[in-house]
Amino acid sequence: MYRTHTCGELRMQHVGSTVTLSGWVQSRRNLGGVTFIDLRDRYGITQLYFDEATDAALRERAGKLGREFVVRVEGEVRERASKNPDRPTGDVEVVVQKLEVLNESKLPPFTVEDETDGGDELRMKYRYLDIRRNPVKEKLIFRSRVAIETRKYLAEQGFIEVETPFLIKSTPEGARDFVVPSRMHPGQFYALPQSPQTFKQLLMVAGMDKYFQIVKCFRDEDLRADRQPEFTQIDCEMSFVTQEEILNTFEGLTKHLFKEILQVDLPDFPRMTYDEAMRRFGSDKPDLRFGMEFTELNDLVKDSGFVVFDSAELVAGICVPAQAASFSNKDIKKLTEWLQRPQIGAKGMVHVKFNEDGSVKSSVGKFFSDEQLKAWGERFGAKPGDILFILAGEAESTRKQLSELRLEMGRRFGLMKEGDFKPLWVVDFPLLEWDEESGRFHAMHHPFTSPKREDMQRMLETDMHEARPEDFLDLRADAYDLVINGAEIGGGSIRIHDRALQEKNFQLLGFSDEEAREQFGFLMGAFEYGAPPHGGIAFGFDRLCAVMQGQQSIRDFIAFPKNNQGRDVMIDAPAPIAAEQLEELHIAIAKGAGEEA
Ligand code: AMO
Repeated sequence: MYRTHTCGELRMQHVGSTVTLSGWVQSRRNLGGVTFIDLRDRYGITQLYFDEATDAALRERAGKLGREFVVRVEGEVRERASKNPDRPTGDVEVVVQKLEVLNESKLPPFTVEDETDGGDELRMKYRYLDIRRNPVKEKLIFRSRVAIETRKYLAEQGFIEVETPFLIKSTPEGARDFVVPSRMHPGQFYALPQSPQTFKQLLMVAGMDKYFQIVKCFRDEDLRADRQPEFTQIDCEMSFVTQEEILNTFEGLTKHLFKEILQVDLPDFPRMTYDEAMRRFGSDKPDLRFGMEFTELNDLVKDSGFVVFDSAELVAGICVPAQAASFSNKDIKKLTEWLQRPQIGAKGMVHVKFNEDGSVKSSVGKFFSDEQLKAWGERFGAKPGDILFILAGEAESTRKQLSELRLEMGRRFGLMKEGDFKPLWVVDFPLLEWDEESGRFHAMHHPFTSPKREDMQRMLETDMHEARPEDFLDLRADAYDLVINGAEIGGGSIRIHDRALQEKNFQLLGFSDEEAREQFGFLMGAFEYGAPPHGGIAFGFDRLCAVMQGQQSIRDFIAFPKNNQGRDVMIDAPAPIAAEQLEELHIAIAKGAGEEA
């Protein structure tokens, strides 16, 4: 037998009993004639004890144990002389009588402890050692609990888990597809799903009524802390539902998970339209943990002679409370430069300081009187000690820049508090967005999203050849996102279930009838066999886990993630394949390709 107990199990009640433990040597300390070893497994750490009374040969073997050796020990549990209150097993230790080395270990390339000296790349290369560390291990255990609770909740609500295929034809969700060459069909490729979108809709046509799946999705897009090329969704679809019922069901799921797993009671989620979110926060995923909402000044700054404002579509700003004194001219210059970086692209920034002594100081004092500046302050609700930061320009980009500034202020002044959760639904997204570069519309969510009922007729009746792009930009969709603490956790929509409307939508998106038929004939065909009204949502499962734990990065919630270049550095993928394999797949590779720089 390898063990009678785990390394996290022994307590005072076990004192006096003989136990067997197996695990990894976390550390060994020799103090005079006494040796202590911390033995670790997934469940915890137990202190092992050897002293002069221990058999000499055994003591010698214990003295040779290196870090991460795998051992089995037998011994008696006794109360510790000096207890460790930080450890659940800290009241006891095991006085070892037998020791067997089950496997030796090379010296690990980084310390396998909560705080490690291993850099990111090294940790990823030896991920199996990294996962032995509590911070990573606990995130994976957490993820498993979230998955189990999700299944429990959805099953209770009558959802059925159905697996959909991974080898499919491309689904357009906005990213590039990963493709898989077909050996049996020369020159043809499968695509890995960016999501099970079309399949879950077909399951609704098939009468499954309520579907869910915790499912891998694949997207070949640029990576960020909250994006991986393969990630997991809690994917759902329901028939005969309104948007309201979907929101309630998934608000229910979210509350259930927070309650069961974090013991946090979330309040009812506020709803905000897309337009309102953009106007108040410049973002469709506002972080509501702090205020600093946008205030618009257009009517107050007209005809001042300050050309930046006079020529701007939007003049708007934020008020940073009680921080006027913390911004020197140099700090403001630095902040302006930060905003001017190409990633943000602001042209400049205007500031107004409302000093504690009642005086007002501004970078545009030349153009505006103190009275005018004070009128701005009133609109912002500014108090003495506050500072205003104001941006101006084209409305959409100015809002985005101001949103970045707002978030930076939130970070800088610690306003995104750990343990504070601020969920909301963002609703009524535009159906389409215009892409200047390609000169065509893109679906804001995806091409299967239904316009709002009141917009349907207009959409169906508009003659595509006569219409101007502006005619469609104000179409609103029954599409919604769940946002928590500024992260997009989930998105979904009511779908089109009518062939004519779906065809019209494809036309708007620039598909010829032939292209639409070729790519989505199977779905439009299905719509002719009694498709029920339906809709759904998908949560980013990795993101949900990260946000619940107050983390920005989803990486450690994934057992074996890819690095920033999309590589798995442990197994070294992607990698070239053998010439015979290529040949079998009917693929010719240009000479030199596949050799990484
Ligand atoms: P969407 O594309 O909005 O919708 O994706 C749903 C959620 O998945 C998460 N997500 C990601 N997480 C990690 N890495 C990525 N690369 C990544 N991409 C997306 C986000 C996002 O909100 N089929 C639709 C859903 C529906 O309409 O029902 C879809 O996939 O949290």
